[in-house]
Amino acid sequence: MELNDVRKSYARWAPIYDRTFGQITRAGRRRAADVLNGLGGRILEVGVGTGLSLPSYRPDVSVTGIDASADMLEKAREKVAELGLKNVEALRLMDARAMDFPDACFDHISALHIMSVVPEPERVMAEMARVLRPGGTIVIVNHFARDPEEKGALPVLERMAAPFAALLGWHSDFSRAHVSRTPGLRLIEEMHLPPFGMMTLLRFRKD
Ligand SMILES: C[S@@+](CC[C@H](N)C(=O)[O-])C[C@H]1O[C@@H](n2cnc3c(N)ncnc32)[C@H](O)[C@@H]1O
Repeated sequence: MELNDVRKSYARWAPIYDRTFGQITRAGRRRAADVLNGLGGRILEVGVGTGLSLPSYRPDVSVTGIDASADMLEKAREKVAELGLKNVEALRLMDARAMDFPDACFDHISALHIMSVVPEPERVMAEMARVLRPGGTIVIVNHFARDPEEKGALPVLERMAAPFAALLGWHSDFSRAHVSRTPGLRLIEEMHLPPFGMMTLLRFRKD
């Protein structure tokens, strides 16, 4: 999808996102927040959406969220106001492919359920590597394509979920090669997450 299509699609999803896709993907957000809370510092969340992860961050970290959809960001702003979240430094409308942050200005970064939605995921990975300080961590949660020969319930479930995923602009056949070959980033952890191990958490370190 082009960015305009992403925006149109998420304008429709914003009012119902938390009760639909947002519900079934809670585990990934919780695990990512656990990892980042263990590290602390200044955190960037790329594609923060409706801000479902924001209440899970420790009160003493500083979180900046960016998203390309004004409608999704509006929901995130409402959450911050309603819950009185003091650790959210900023929520900004921004294309993750061309961020206007200086180099190496964030300690850690999360990108949750966004990499298979963004146009040009390799460009987003390169931008995240640029704004991350050396030694910093990037946590990605996403669904990645499986071996088509794989047997069992999971491939069947994935085929059942495919039309729903497509409505989110989600590429269910998204290859992990899109995120795993970024110069300067080293994969240091991988973990399969609910629902049914469909999502994967990848943790990269900037050397
Ligand atoms: C499936 S939602 C995930 C939202 C949130 N991270 C979560 O876990 O609930 C994908 C988000 O990626 C955002 N997005 C897509 N392309 C983007 C881009 N180029 N720059 C910034 N955000 C983008 C969409 O607007 C949407 O909010």
